[in-house]
Amino acid sequence: MMNRREFINWVSVGMLASSLPVILAACNSEDRSASTQKTKTKLDTSVREDGFQALGTLEKLEEKGFITDKKNAEKSVIIFRNPDTGDIVAFDSMCTHQACSVEFNATEKLLICPCHSSKFALDGQVVAKPAEKPLTPFEIKQEDNLILVKVS
Ligand code: FES
Repeated sequence: MMNRREFINWVSVGMLASSLPVILAACNSEDRSASTQKTKTKLDTSVREDGFQALGTLEKLEEKGFITDKKNAEKSVIIFRNPDTGDIVAFDSMCTHQACSVEFNATEKLLICPCHSSKFALDGQVVAKPAEKPLTPFEIKQEDNLILVKVS
């Protein structure tokens, strides 16, 4: 039979054990947000006097394979690394058929429109209709880790 003192000790240990995961989770989420703040610095996407706009970083490009920034970009832009040349290039992502956004397909090495399946080569030329005009290229430059596109 358990006496009163043993019972209180037993309950205290139980309460501590049950609250431990909450304490650990709280520490964990603080650690996570602190490390996220360290790695994510806000990108200045304002258009510069020379007409260039920073639309991404090399890390983002390598991570996703392409960059589209519909929220901040002055124009509809798709940025990708040409797998044949290794060059980073940018095009107006608006399909020349009816203005849907083309998507970069690294496997097929094409820009493909999801709306009516027009296909563009990686230099922007049409390889499959209904689109008839090529995609418009944008001038691009790199500053350290930043990828900038001339949008005006
Ligand atoms: S809008 Fe792109 S193929 Fe029609």
